[in-house]
Amino acid sequence: MYQRTPNHVAIIMDGNGRWGKKRRLSRSEGHYAGAKRMEDVIDASIELGIKVLTLYAFSSENWSRPSDEVNYLMDLPVKFFKKKLPEFMRRNIQIRISGNTAPLPDKTREVLARVVASTENNTGIVVNFAFNYGGRGDIIHAAKALIEEVRSGKISKDEMTEERMEQLLYTGDLPSPDIIIRTGGEKRISNFLLWQSAESELYFSDVYFPDFTGELLAEAVGRQPVNSYLSG
Ligand code: IPE
Ligand code: IPE
Ligand code: MG
Repeated sequence: MYQRTPNHVAIIMDGNGRWGKKRRLSRSEGHYAGAKRMEDVIDASIELGIKVLTLYAFSSENWSRPSDEVNYLMDLPVKFFKKKLPEFMRRNIQIRISGNTAPLPDKTREVLARVVASTENNTGIVVNFAFNYGGRGDIIHAAKALIEEVRSGKISKDEMTEERMEQLLYTGDLPSPDIIIRTGGEKRISNFLLWQSAESELYFSDVYFPDFTGELLAEAVGRQPVNSYLSG
């Protein structure tokens, strides 16, 4: 279907709430359906040979939602990872988190830390969850670390390069995304991977995330122009 698979696919998993509403269900039921769908998207990514899959699961702006919804979204990774960790180990899947985990509830932060530590040496697909992630916050966080490296004498001012900055972002040593997919019909970036998306293709789908099948992922990735892999 496509000639070369992108290394890194990033998805803004949007439309869970509207999916619930359309079915006369709650927004939380939409989030639950979105989490189920994430399992298919991970499976499809492995089949497609994608090396890194970044999933935008909670933005730094999402704290402003009603507290019931925020609480639900903080509980969801606890349930999801408790269920999935043995399978992730069996399938050699490495889990990473991009974002500021410090303000998360203890149980959420602990589960995320445990999953990251347990899967650290797995060598298969990297599934990177952007959780309490914001692109501006990511850049500030990296800039502070970079300034500290100069201040402490670890590097000189001339060594404040794009490459060094990039390594200090939450995405660290991961390659930049080849393609950023947003489901749910909105055509915005919503503070996702601002630095990292400088050269990414943007792909928008009207489908709500809980309906975003592996086939739709393959279609999105298949639209990638082959040329974009040849140069890099
Ligand atoms: C995306 O779905 C998931 C999160 C932001 C956690 P939304 O909850 O934004 O769903 P819509 O956009 O309101 O339909
Ligand atoms: C982006 O969706 C964040 C996630 C999918 C986690 P939002 O629904 O929060 O973004 P806006 O509010 O439409 O910009
Ligand atoms: Mg939304």
